[in-house]
Amino acid sequence: MCGIVGFAFRDSFEIKDSVKALKRLEYRGYDSFGYADNNGVVGKHVGEIAIDKVPALNTKIAITHTRWSTHGGVTEMNAHPHTDCSGKIAIVHNGIISNYREIREEMEKAGHAFKSQTDSEAIAHFFENKNIKDAAPEFFSKFQGEFAVLLVKKAEEKIYAFKRGSPLVLGIAPEGNILASDIYAFSDRTNRAVFFNEDEFAEITSEGFTFYSITDTTIPIEKEITVFSWKEGEELGEYPHYMIKEIKEIPRAASRLLLSLGGEQKPAVEKVVRMLKDAKRVIFVASGSSYHAALIGVQFLARAGMEARAVVASEFRSFMLLDENTVAVAVSQSGETMDVIEAMRGIKAKGVKIASLVNVPYSTVQRMSNAHLNIGAGQEVCVAATKTFINQVITMAYMASMLGYRADFASLNDCITKALLQEERIKEIAAELKDERDIYILGRGVCYPVAREIALKLKEIAYVHAEGMMAGELKHGTLALIEKGTPVICLMPKNDKDIVSSAEEVKARGAKVISFTSNGYDSEEGVKINATDAATFAIASAIVGQILTYYIAMGKGLPIDKPRNLAKSVTVK
Ligand code: AGP
Repeated sequence: MCGIVGFAFRDSFEIKDSVKALKRLEYRGYDSFGYADNNGVVGKHVGEIAIDKVPALNTKIAITHTRWSTHGGVTEMNAHPHTDCSGKIAIVHNGIISNYREIREEMEKAGHAFKSQTDSEAIAHFFENKNIKDAAPEFFSKFQGEFAVLLVKKAEEKIYAFKRGSPLVLGIAPEGNILASDIYAFSDRTNRAVFFNEDEFAEITSEGFTFYSITDTTIPIEKEITVFSWKEGEELGEYPHYMIKEIKEIPRAASRLLLSLGGEQKPAVEKVVRMLKDAKRVIFVASGSSYHAALIGVQFLARAGMEARAVVASEFRSFMLLDENTVAVAVSQSGETMDVIEAMRGIKAKGVKIASLVNVPYSTVQRMSNAHLNIGAGQEVCVAATKTFINQVITMAYMASMLGYRADFASLNDCITKALLQEERIKEIAAELKDERDIYILGRGVCYPVAREIALKLKEIAYVHAEGMMAGELKHGTLALIEKGTPVICLMPKNDKDIVSSAEEVKARGAKVISFTSNGYDSEEGVKINATDAATFAIASAIVGQILTYYIAMGKGLPIDKPRNLAKSVTVK
C-alpha cells in the first residue's frame, strides 16, 4: 500500500500543491504522511493527510508519501520521506524491502545512523555520497522485494524513480512531470502517462524524462505515451460518506456496465468468452470482495455447464493445476493488489493465458492480462467495495450468459432500486444490531458467497465479528455458538426450501433471525428482497448487507470510509 507522488515543475509551486495531489491517493494508506523537496525541507506528520500542516514553502521539485505501515509503528519518525546521514538525500517508498535487515546491519556496521524502524530508510543510506544513476544497478541487485521509490538530492533539479513490483507511473502535465503510484494522482491535470515496466529506472526533470532498463543504464529506452480516459470521482456532494454515496450510485453504474458490455466492450467480452470456451480449466484468482465475486462467478459458470474454481490470490502458490488448457481470470477492483499480481506472475510463468476483470483502467493487472473487461463502476473512494462488487457480479453473470446461463438482466435495475428503497427498514435493523459483537449470515448456493461478502463488510466497516456461512454446514459445528438472542441473517431466495430449515434450527435455539427474503419467510422481521432469479437475489441482498453495515457503523460513530488498519489498494504481500 502507501501512495507516492513527485512533482518536477518548470515554475515554482507550493509544497502544499503536491500534498494535495497525494491526498487523491489517500485510499492507499492513511496512517501518516510526509514531503520533501530538493532544498532540504523534510516534513512528516502522523494521521491522515492534513494540508494545513504543510508549511507555505515554494519549490520546483517535491516528493510526498502517504503511509500504510508495514515495518515500524505509526510514528512521525517512521513516516516517509527518509533521509541519509548527510540529509542530502530524501526518499519515499511504496513496497517492502524483504532483505532490509541484512542491509541495515551491514550499513550500521559501516557507520550509518538509522533513525526509523522502517525497511525503507536503508534506501536513502544506500545512495549516500553516490552518483545515483551509477549506483542504480547495484541498488536493484542488492535490494530484494517490491519497491516504487522516488529520490531527490539536495540542489538537484530532478527526481530519480525506481520500480520493481510496486506500481509507478509518470504523468506528463502542462506544468511539468508528475510521478505517482497511480494515474488518479494526476488525472485532474493530464491524461498523458508513461507506465514503468519492471526493473526500470528513470530521471525526471520538469522538461523531460529518461528511462533506463536496469540491465543497461547507459542507453535510454524508448517509452510509449498512453493517452487515458478516466472518469473523475464526483465530490461527496450531499452525502456524509463515500460509502453511502457509492451504494447509491449502483443503479447508474450497473446500467452503464450493461450498456458497455453489449456495446463498446462487446469485442472484449467475446474474446474473454472464447478464452473460457477453449479452456479445459478456468481458475479465478482474487482477494477479499473480488474473491467473493469470483465465487459467485464459479456458480454462474457451473449453471452454464462450465467447471471453474476460485482461488484466493495469497494462496495461489499452492495451486498446482496449471497447464496450457487452463485460463486464469484475475478479478481486482484496483488492479494493484499485490497478492493478485504475484499469483499472475506465477501463472504467466507457466505460459497460462490470463483474462481480467478490473475497475481501474491501465492498472497493473489489466496490463498483465491477455484480455480484459472493465467493470466500469467509476472511482470508488471508500475502502469497502460496494458498487464495484456489484459490477463484478454483473460482469460474471454477463460472461456466463454468453455461455448459456440465463440471468434476468431485464429486471436487474428494478431489483436494485427496490433494494435501495428498503433503506428505512434497514436503518431500524441496524439500530437493533448496533451493539452486537457477533453476527452470523447464512446462505446457500449463490447466496453463500454473498453471506461471506456481507460478513466482510460488517467486519471491516462496522467492526463486528461476523461469519458468513454455508447454511447447511451450520449443524456441523457452528450451531453450538447459537444462544438466546444471537443475531443470524438468513438469505432466503424464493425457491430455497432448505434455508427455511436452517432458519428454524437457529430459531429453535433462541437466535434472532433477520431474513433477507424473497420467499415471504418472517418478512416483517427482516427485509423484503425483490428478485426474479439467483443473480438478482445475490445482487439485491448484497446491497441490503452494504446498507446495513453502513448504518451499524454510523450508529457506532466509526470512520466509515477509512476503517482502522486498512487501505483500499493492498499493494504489499
Ligand atoms: C473490500 O471491501 C475490501 N476492502 C477488500 O477485501 C478488497 O476487496 C480486496 O483488498 C481486494 O481488492 P481488489 O479488488 O482491488 O484487488
